[in-house]
Amino acid sequence: MAGLKGPAYMEAKRASESETEMVQVVLPNDANPLGFILGGTVMHLIDIAGAIACHRHTRTLLVTAAVDDLQFLHSIKIGDLIILKSRVTCVFTTSLEVQVDVFSEETLTGRRLLTSRAFLTFVAVDKDGRRLPVPPLLVETEEETRVCAEAKVRREQRLRRKMANG
Ligand SMILES: CC(C)(COP(=O)(O)OP(=O)(O)OC[C@H]1O[C@@H](n2cnc3c(N)ncnc32)[C@H](O)[C@@H]1OP(=O)(O)O)[C@@H](O)C(=O)NCCC(=O)NCCS
Repeated sequence: MAGLKGPAYMEAKRASESETEMVQVVLPNDANPLGFILGGTVMHLIDIAGAIACHRHTRTLLVTAAVDDLQFLHSIKIGDLIILKSRVTCVFTTSLEVQVDVFSEETLTGRRLLTSRAFLTFVAVDKDGRRLPVPPLLVETEEETRVCAEAKVRREQRLRRKMANG
């Protein structure tokens, strides 16, 4: 970490302190001619929801480094709610991974479906783009330990993919 200047606030935090839920109604302006929300709009919202949880964890500026492969399991129609839940899974040195789960909810019935799950990596930077260390994540439960271990495996895979492409 030599040469990296840390943010003032480097206290370890729990994932629950930064987890975020975004809810909005799907309006005609968000939709394709079939009346379903555009994939690009969902991707935009995933990026925002992931970034908010990571900002709350790091309290720094961030850039998106990677978005893992994304699937749209069900369509979300005009009038439904789109719900995005984001939670930091693991932190590394200057980067951190966040999981974003996307749900549709029918307003009249409350029926909720998982429509996408995404893993994004953000890198903490200062206003000049220099990388910053991220605060530690308090991993306390067996579930959090498992989630972080899985994030480490994904990180190795995406860095290997980056090397192979670059
Ligand atoms: C992401 C970025 C900062 C990485 O910079 P870099 O010079 O390649 O930096 P390094 O290889 O030293 O990696 C820095 C950190 O990013 C991580 N990282 C870099 N590329 C990554 C990738 N493709 N996926 C996941 N993590 C990645 C590294 O693991 C490292 O994390 P660590 O400090 O926690 O170990 C740089 O590529 C960048 O600025 N990209 C553009 C970001 C942007 O504009 N995003 C908006 C959408 S395009």
